[in-house]
Amino acid sequence: MQLIEGRNLPRHVGIIMDGNGRWAELRGERREAGHKAGSAAVRRIVRVGRRLGLDALTLYAFSEQNWARPPGEVDALMGLLREYLVSEWDEIMGNGIRLVAIGDVSRLPEPVRDALDPLRSASSHNGAMTLALALSYGGREEIATAARELAAEAVAGRITPDQIDVAALSARIPSLSVGDPDLIIRTGGEQRISNFLLFGAAYAELAFTDRLWPDFTEDDLFAAIASYQRRERRFGRVGVKTP
Ligand code: FPP
Repeated sequence: MQLIEGRNLPRHVGIIMDGNGRWAELRGERREAGHKAGSAAVRRIVRVGRRLGLDALTLYAFSEQNWARPPGEVDALMGLLREYLVSEWDEIMGNGIRLVAIGDVSRLPEPVRDALDPLRSASSHNGAMTLALALSYGGREEIATAARELAAEAVAGRITPDQIDVAALSARIPSLSVGDPDLIIRTGGEQRISNFLLFGAAYAELAFTDRLWPDFTEDDLFAAIASYQRRERRFGRVGVKTP
């Protein structure tokens, strides 16, 4: 933690939690065991994010494309999600965390929605940190939905086509309700964005680590933040040191 400066913290951190399956396979266990260990890592990292004072933490828990995994694995993930939402009620409420979900939550099984909806409403006025769970989430799908909504507004005559600009799209993209992500971390060794926070990621700093998600510790989070703090964010402009 000494590595991190108190000022210049990323406001919004997104994490692609990859490597659960390999973590399990390395131990000769079923992939589901990796997801279970991944849930424990979620609990740890949410606590650390809150302690650090992040404004928002977005976790990629289940992508739109993950529905194509074997039914047994999907069921196991849904079970773990429900278990997380039920068991973390006190932790979330006690720490002033606002829980939101991004993605097509209508596709989630009823037991998951039954656990998600009351926690979303109970925590909606909490102000310490927003925890956004990306569930049945796809960045392209989110952009397409926003574009469709704006097109409908234009057809209805409420806006003109030239009002469909970056600001109008951003305002309709649920994952950006907490602002653009400043830092996106991907565990598990791959270096790609996999349909996560696509619109908001335009100027996000990216941090990749080989650590498999179940092994991701608070020190790994601190290291990613320290790396973020060493970078100069230019947003397409020239650097301050450039003559
Ligand atoms: C990617 O690893 C991970 C997922 C598809 C699911 C992430 C889910 C969790 C961390 C647990 C449940 C979430 C919450 C919020 C309680 P992978 O299976 O693709 O790993 P691999 O690349 O090693 O196969």
